[in-house]
Amino acid sequence: MTTIEWAGAAAIVDGPGGYAGIDATPEWAEEVRRLARERNATLLAHNYQLPAIQDIADHVGDSLALSRIAAEAEEDTIVFCGVHFMAETAKILSPNKTVLIPDERAGCSLADSITADQLREWKAEYPDAVVVSYVNTTAEVKGLTDICCTSSNAVDVVASIDPDREVLFLPDQFLGAHVKRVTGRENMHIWAGECHVHAGINGEELAAQAKSHPDADLFVHPECGCATSALYLAGEGFVPDDKVKILSTGGMIDAARATGAKQVLVATEVGMLHQLRKAAPGIDFQAVNDRASCPYMKMITPASLLRCLREGKDEVHVDPAVAERARLSVQRMIAIGNPGGGE
Ligand code: 13P
Ligand code: SF4
Repeated sequence: MTTIEWAGAAAIVDGPGGYAGIDATPEWAEEVRRLARERNATLLAHNYQLPAIQDIADHVGDSLALSRIAAEAEEDTIVFCGVHFMAETAKILSPNKTVLIPDERAGCSLADSITADQLREWKAEYPDAVVVSYVNTTAEVKGLTDICCTSSNAVDVVASIDPDREVLFLPDQFLGAHVKRVTGRENMHIWAGECHVHAGINGEELAAQAKSHPDADLFVHPECGCATSALYLAGEGFVPDDKVKILSTGGMIDAARATGAKQVLVATEVGMLHQLRKAAPGIDFQAVNDRASCPYMKMITPASLLRCLREGKDEVHVDPAVAERARLSVQRMIAIGNPGGGE
C-alpha cells in the first residue's frame, strides 16, 4: 500500500453478528473508495444489504443482475457484498478474477437445505429428469445441475424445457410452487426446502395488512410463505387481481417505478425497502413483516467491508473441477429470461 491508511480502521472488532466497531461515516466511505480503487475492485451489493453498503457499492441489484455484472466485470477484483453462494457464483463465472466476500460466514439457510449427496440420491430416482436449481445453492449442487435460475427468471427457465421431460426443481418449495402454478407444468418435482426469513412472512400477517391498507399494492417475493395467500386473497376478491405482484427483488424496483399506487406493502427481506424508497420516493413502502431481516446478509457491515478491502479477505475459492461442472448451468441461467433488475 502506497498511501497512508485511515487510523479509524483500528476499531474493527469481531463480534457474534460479524465484524463491528465502525460507523458508516464520510471518512469510512472515503477510505472504502480509496482502497477499492487501489485494488482495482468493483463493489457489488445485493438489494438486502444494509443501506450504507448499498450506497457505497458500484452496482446494487438482484441475484440475476449481479451475476451478469460479475460475469462481465472489467476490474481485477470483485467484492461481493451479499451471501456466500452469490460470491461463489461470481467466482464460477469469472475464475481468473479475485473474488472477495467481506465475511465468509455469511451463509444462507436455503442453500443449506440441500446437499450434493441428497441431490445425487434424488437424481437417481429420476434419471431422465432435467435438474433446475435456484442460484441459492452451493457450487457442488450447481455442478449436479442442468440449469440454474433465480427468482427473476425461474418461470422462463422451466418454460424453456421440453414439456415432456420431468423436472426436478430445488431447493425452494415456495418458488417451486409459484413456477408450477404459472407454467401449469404437472411433471415437476419440488424439493421441500425454504428460506427461514421468507418462510416467516406468513399469510395471516399479509391478510391483516392487506385488510388495513385496502388501496395498497402488494409486492411479494416468491420465496415467501405468504405468496400462495397473496394469490388466494386476489382469487377470492379480497384484493383486486392487479394489486398483487409476485416479483424478484429487482422486479420490485421496476414495478415500483411503474405503479400508480401511493402505498405498497412489501413481503420480502427488509433491506429491500431502501432501494424501493430511492427508486420511487413518492410512494409509502411498508414491510409486511418488519422483523424479516436476514442475519447472513447483515453480516456484511461497514467494518467487514473495510477489513475486506484492507486485507484482501475473505477470498472465495471454488475447486476448479467443481467450478467447471457448475459453469454451464450458471451460464445457461444468465442467458435465459428478462434482463434481471435492480439498478
Ligand atoms: P433475488 O434477488 O434473486 O430476488 O433473490 C432474493 C434472495 O433471497 C437472495 O438471497
Ligand atoms: Fe438465504 Fe433467505 Fe438470507 Fe436470501 S434471505 S440469503 S434466501 S437466508
